[in-house]
Amino acid sequence: MTSKYAIILAAGQGTRMKSKLYKVLHPVCGKPMVDHVLTEIEKNNMDEIVTVVGHGAEMVEKTLGDRTKYALQAEQLGTGHAVLQAEKLLGDKDGMTLIACGDTPLFTAKTFEELFEYHKSKGAVATVLTAHAENPFGYGRIIRNEIGIVEKIVEQKDATAEEAAVKEINTGVYCFDNKELFAALHQIKNDNAQGEYYLPDVMEIFQKQGKVVAAYQMKNFEESMGVNDRIALSNATKVMRRRINENLMRQGVTLIDPDTTYIDIDVKVGSDTVIEPGVQLKGKTEIGADCYIGAHSEIIDSVIEDGVKVTSSYIEDAIMHKNSNIGPYSHLRPKAEIGENAHIGNFVEVKKATIGKNTKVGHLTYVGDATLGRDINVGCGTVFVNYDGINKHHTTVGDYSFIGSASNIIAPVNIADHAYVAAGSTITDDIDAHDMGIARGRQVNKKGYFDRYPVAEAARIAEEKAKEE
Ligand code: UD1
Ligand code: CA
Repeated sequence: MTSKYAIILAAGQGTRMKSKLYKVLHPVCGKPMVDHVLTEIEKNNMDEIVTVVGHGAEMVEKTLGDRTKYALQAEQLGTGHAVLQAEKLLGDKDGMTLIACGDTPLFTAKTFEELFEYHKSKGAVATVLTAHAENPFGYGRIIRNEIGIVEKIVEQKDATAEEAAVKEINTGVYCFDNKELFAALHQIKNDNAQGEYYLPDVMEIFQKQGKVVAAYQMKNFEESMGVNDRIALSNATKVMRRRINENLMRQGVTLIDPDTTYIDIDVKVGSDTVIEPGVQLKGKTEIGADCYIGAHSEIIDSVIEDGVKVTSSYIEDAIMHKNSNIGPYSHLRPKAEIGENAHIGNFVEVKKATIGKNTKVGHLTYVGDATLGRDINVGCGTVFVNYDGINKHHTTVGDYSFIGSASNIIAPVNIADHAYVAAGSTITDDIDAHDMGIARGRQVNKKGYFDRYPVAEAARIAEEKAKEE
């Protein structure tokens, strides 16, 4: 078996992005571009992968970790110079080397595999992956001779009008005989429009040496899209999004409107789940089977088990166990855990709290830093008062308890199983099992007081009007 190496070029600043963030770290559907490239390369069982880093080296290394080795390109003198930085790590090895750029996030493992196969079948020292572009602007052009053999690759800025009219472009992906590659790299010059050492120039060097140079034209230009600015970034994201959505639909997920459904690459969704328009599923979110995710919900890094119903809600770093439901318009914040079959209604915020099985928190309630047991009813407008201005305090509510509406539960406090909080109470002390806590002023009715206040005059005017109707 021929050994397989890969070099990913990721040292550029990405000036055209106009960004503080290094270009290759810009995410496409939740994953940095360079990570997409690495992930697809890894699927080809490579013997070694080297990423060339420069601008933002530390951040790129932190992002990709030990999945790849690194070569530092201290000064960005061009793509050819960038590859040369990997010579110390790879230069003396026998085998084939795949080169890809960190700013082409749409390539698939399958295309890389096809390139390796084509390269081997042609017995070439160098094979460039090309594509037909309706608008080739900005890409290197593939210049072939009369019999179709690649003579050289010409950059946009160096192209004559005739060369610029060529629509076959360099995708920036190549396969080389490893040792031949490094030998040729020492011969390239920087006498071009950008004063850079161009990697594509090795093609002409091989050609002149009479070595076999090949070009493999892929069918799908879209996949080769390079991202140099924010417009291309949005175009690439659109392509990736459609790919993700179509994959999910093939696996049995219903997307009511895939064009307006935004799902990150690492999100998982079970079959027969229905996702409405405007939904965003981000990060490491996992959605089970038979769920309903209602319009404009946003779910980040959360686990949603089978049969859950989410109606227009915002969920981050939380868990919803099976058959529970939430919304419309509620918010699960980090470390919220909603029990099986539990109900979180509208305008409810839950933070760092566990809600037990079958428990209902129906309306206008804040639950923070609390552990609620099973089959509890929490009335409308309840506030778990958890913060004293410096520290957060914890509350527990036992199974089968009842919290009356508009109660304030001032933490730290323990409410036992089968306990009762009377509506409108401000609870500061523990309540034992089967007891009721009531903490509010007694009602006093004052005879005729209505007529003493301005409301009486307002009522009189309204009654006059009512008579005229
Ligand atoms: C490059 C190709 C072009 C091809 C296009 C495909 C060259 C000279 N041109 O152009 O033929 O059509 O990609 O998308 O190769 N980089 C470094 N060090 C450097 C310069 C660049 O690591 O000194 C990295 C960048 O971070 C980037 C990649 O190489 O990931 C490509 O560089 P970029 O400047 O984007 O090249 P293009 O102009 O797109
Ligand atoms: Ca580019």
